[in-house]
Amino acid sequence: MNQFTSGKVKTFFEEQDNYRDRKGMVHAEQDPVILEFMAQHADASSIVLEVGGGSGYMLDLVNLHVGPNRLYNCEIVPGTYRVQVNPAITLVGGDCLQLPFRSGFCDFVIIKNVLHHLVGGTRKQSKGLALQAVNELARVLRPGGHLIIVEQHHRHRLFADIAFWITMLFAKVGVGVPSLGLNKNVIVSFLTPAEIESYVRGTGTNIVVSDHAKVEIPFIYRVTILLKDLGRSLIIGKVEGGNQS
Ligand SMILES: C[S@@+](CC[C@H](N)C(=O)[O-])C[C@H]1O[C@@H](n2cnc3c(N)ncnc32)[C@H](O)[C@@H]1O
Repeated sequence: MNQFTSGKVKTFFEEQDNYRDRKGMVHAEQDPVILEFMAQHADASSIVLEVGGGSGYMLDLVNLHVGPNRLYNCEIVPGTYRVQVNPAITLVGGDCLQLPFRSGFCDFVIIKNVLHHLVGGTRKQSKGLALQAVNELARVLRPGGHLIIVEQHHRHRLFADIAFWITMLFAKVGVGVPSLGLNKNVIVSFLTPAEIESYVRGTGTNIVVSDHAKVEIPFIYRVTILLKDLGRSLIIGKVEGGNQS
């Protein structure tokens, strides 16, 4: 990310209260699937890393439903989220583009709703950053470990391009129009489901769960920033090698 875009992301999330204290099933469709999957594949010695986990609500659910694990949350704005909802979570400051963990460090990596915030000066650069992040996530997983991605997608590349440039323009000018879904600190680079899956497969990770659901978007956002075909993807991949089931 460049200085402008990474400054925008940090400023936005430093000011967000809702990611600081949220608790519970925030993704009512995807979270139970993740927890059930992890309950089948994790054990008490598993190391679970969430990247961009905010207050740690998802790791708290993992702790509650899957059992005691070693839990890490790697956040770009750790000061904002220094109080995690579960004291068992170790909060680490870091960027998903260059994770501060050794290769093969963990058994599970979870990343929810972060990839579309990785923005460079152009769409092409932004997609390159999302790809770089997915490569980093796979790097820190041990062979046989699992990568769990929940991400907002856009089914139409052209409309996603236009949404990127509209949000970039408003961010550059420093103007937000909340009623139209435009925040002066938010630039969005949505990927298509196929793009996310191809990035995952490119790391040598086999996709074992793939679900792409449509989400309802308020009418005004659909027409102003062309988010009619926004949805939420859940992708779980297993890194090649190892013998974890
Ligand atoms: C939309 S919020 C999602 C929070 C949580 N994962 C969820 O789904 O509710 C994005 C989160 O990712 C963090 N984040 C943004 N860019 C990041 C980066 N490059 N590396 C690590 N975390 C990042 C933000 O601070 C924020 O907590």
